[in-house]
Amino acid sequence: MMWYAPSFVLGASSQAHLKVLGLSAGYGAFLVLRDLTLEIKPGLTVILGPNGAGKTTLLKALSGLIPRGGEVLLNGQALPVKTSEIVQRGMALVAEGRQLFPQMTVTENLELGGWLVAKAERARRLEQAFTDFPKLRERAQQLAGTMSGGEQQMVAVARAMMSAPCLLMLDEPSLGLAPRMVDELLAITRRIADSGTTVLMVEQNVKKALAVADRGYVLERGTLVASGPAALLARSTVIREAYLGAAPASSGSISTPSAPARA
Ligand SMILES: Nc1ncnc2c1ncn2[C@@H]1O[C@H](COP(=O)(O)OP(=O)(O)OP(=O)(O)O)[C@@H](O)[C@H]1O
Ligand SMILES: [Mg+2]
Repeated sequence: MMWYAPSFVLGASSQAHLKVLGLSAGYGAFLVLRDLTLEIKPGLTVILGPNGAGKTTLLKALSGLIPRGGEVLLNGQALPVKTSEIVQRGMALVAEGRQLFPQMTVTENLELGGWLVAKAERARRLEQAFTDFPKLRERAQQLAGTMSGGEQQMVAVARAMMSAPCLLMLDEPSLGLAPRMVDELLAITRRIADSGTTVLMVEQNVKKALAVADRGYVLERGTLVASGPAALLARSTVIREAYLGAAPASSGSISTPSAPARA
């Protein structure tokens, strides 16, 4: 049985389009991201890059978890600064490490994802989450902390979807999962993007991520080194040499820093 239902419906009715212009962010005096310009269009965008490149920092800055400079527009409107207001605008983050409440049941964890909405609507979404993720219904009363890594990741994604986000951000959702679970998870992110929620995903699983994504950006030391359609990026020299360990192919028509990155 697959983890998700063939017709996946929990999510937003409107698609998010995020424009990031000259973003800077870091920790105290330590600036990690400098003058980052990128665009997250409806569909599935993946952010690739080595450890320490600033991928998590980017998601934190977009979620309001750390201060940011520059301009961020969500569907043409300036993104608020405070996390609570960003969540209210429909942006949800599944952070690295899932951050479930281990002593609470699957149901309770899911309900927390819908804390912003009225009780009746929360109950409706919970029912939808169990329809979208049938395996979670079987585990409704299990303590989240006793589930396997892959199962916990599913709960984390379902919990984020309980807020019916217009933009879902995922930080390395496949980290530490077995190959089959990685495939299931990436299929779910694809399904979420197809059902109308814009997805921004950080992934280390370069080949598999580019296979499901529409577009990608490669971040190194806080700046973008390449961007473009996922299929072209997968064949690009920068990806093949640095991440896939293969001989370089033609560079295709991906953007490099000299030509402003635009996917
Ligand atoms: N809370 C923090 N305080 C100070 N520096 C930090 C903090 N978090 C991250 N950094 C630094 O910021 C830089 C970027 O880190 P970040 O976590 O964004 O990288 P990443 O691309 O997500 O890496 P990984 O693939 O390992 O998750 C690193 O040099 C890291 O040491
Ligand atoms: Mg990270």
